Amino acid sequence: MRLGFLGTGEITAAMVRGLQGQGHRILVSPRNAAVAATLAAEVADVTVAPNEDVVARSDVVFLCLLARVAEEVLPGLPFRADQSVISVMVDAPLAKLRQLCAPATDIAITIPLPPIAVGGCPLPVYPASPVLDSLFGVRNLILPQPSEAALNAHLGASALCSPILDQLLTAVDWLATHTGNPAAAEAYIAAMIRGYLPERAQQGDLATALKKLSTEGGLNATLRAAMAPAKDSLRQGLDAFHSRLGLSDPKGRT
Ligand SMILES: NC(=O)c1ccc[n+]([C@@H]2O[C@H](COP(=O)([O-])OP(=O)(O)OC[C@H]3O[C@@H](n4cnc5c(N)ncnc54)[C@H](OP(=O)(O)O)[C@@H]3O)[C@@H](O)[C@H]2O)c1
Repeated sequence: MRLGFLGTGEITAAMVRGLQGQGHRILVSPRNAAVAATLAAEVADVTVAPNEDVVARSDVVFLCLLARVAEEVLPGLPFRADQSVISVMVDAPLAKLRQLCAPATDIAITIPLPPIAVGGCPLPVYPASPVLDSLFGVRNLILPQPSEAALNAHLGASALCSPILDQLLTAVDWLATHTGNPAAAEAYIAAMIRGYLPERAQQGDLATALKKLSTEGGLNATLRAAMAPAKDSLRQGLDAFHSRLGLSDPKGRT
């Protein structure tokens, strides 16, 4: 398949690495110059081309720009009715994308994360996209959503990655203070947490794991109680996304 990427930054690099070696011909736009050059040198399938060529010579165009840049750049590009467009951009609703990419109409939004480079990345998508499925479905978990609001809620939830990693690093730092071995501390914490996270969790798996860590007076239960206020902070932080993500407030507040 002929694939084009507009905006060659962090997420394009991860997606291209995840697609390499599968026989696709991949065009990436020239900015960021350093990332584009690295990808072209590293991945045999990749060629750097101007934005116009990326669109004109691709069956599928991935939009990996910042949304404000997309508003400036996309209207001048030669989109076609017969091509598919997949946006990964935050703050770029479907209605706006339909305007910016006309006459293309096969447009979907998904939420890749950097681990897509190696596979195992959850990919919520709206509307369902056979093209996304065929490109990434073998190595990743495609999660079609019933509405754009449901997709946007996943965007909000995806912001959990950063505070969780921040907490893990705090624990790594604490452990290393006592062991004097930061590398081993990081290896331990990462492997320990990974062990609790099934790749394809069924409903209830996480609650079951938590229940097993709830011995009264145990270290786990004690630390969880000490950190209980963080649950409210998390809920408040997620609720604060409502207006930006176009989500209705389940409590009916405006
Ligand atoms: N990173 C993630 O984990 C992640 C996950 C999901 C969704 N997203 C979304 O993906 C989009 C890109 O994120 P990112 O993290 O990859 O950002 P990024 O690393 O800043 O990449 C954006 C790229 O767009 C390039 N660019 C700027 N103006 C351009 C133009 N006129 N034509 C072509 N390219 C241009 C930038 O080049 P210069 O450096 O030269 O300005 C940069 O390489 C955002 O909308 C973000 O919300 C990111």
